[in-house]
Amino acid sequence: MNAKAIVYTSNTGYTARYAAMLSDKLGVPAHSLADALKALPAGTPVICMGWLMAGSVKGYGKAAKRFAVEAVIGVGLGDTGAQDEAARKACRLPADVPVFTVQGGMDHARLKGGYKLGISLLTKAMAAKKNRTPDEDRMLHLLINGGDYVSEKELAAVLAWADR
Ligand SMILES: Cc1cc2nc3c(=O)[nH]c(=O)nc-3n(C[C@H](O)[C@H](O)[C@H](O)COP(=O)(O)O)c2cc1C
Repeated sequence: MNAKAIVYTSNTGYTARYAAMLSDKLGVPAHSLADALKALPAGTPVICMGWLMAGSVKGYGKAAKRFAVEAVIGVGLGDTGAQDEAARKACRLPADVPVFTVQGGMDHARLKGGYKLGISLLTKAMAAKKNRTPDEDRMLHLLINGGDYVSEKELAAVLAWADR
């Protein structure tokens, strides 16, 4: 791993917590994307982290325009690892960039405006879906009831990659 920093985008705080955890484990600083765009030189090798919105990793596009993204981590509602390939496709990631999805959480009290509406629509769509997979059932439960799954063990695959 050559990454010199972690660059993250977080709406309700789960990705920020994972970024702090990973920063601690890897010994590289974590910056919000907004700060990184001011503080880091163009071309800096980074790990890009962002919350999953409509399947895509928020902030990846902006980060990739400015920095050399070595790996991408999406934080969402599904089980850790379950959305890796979907996120790769949605972000059109190059084949040589590893992607990891990890389970974050849902805190309705922290959602505002359009994002609140987005979650209400996503919940309705998921509830109406026939033949939900067990992962989708757990996602629906999280959408309705909220919950916090941030834990160091969810980063095991990322740490194994960084340790190669
Ligand atoms: C508008 C909206 C769309 C979302 N779309 C997805 C999605 O497609 N897949 C998913 O797993 N999670 C989705 N989520 C859930 C967030 O990714 C999840 O709550 C994440 O933990 C938020 O991280 P943050 O606290 O860093 O913002 C969505 C959330 C919002 C508000």
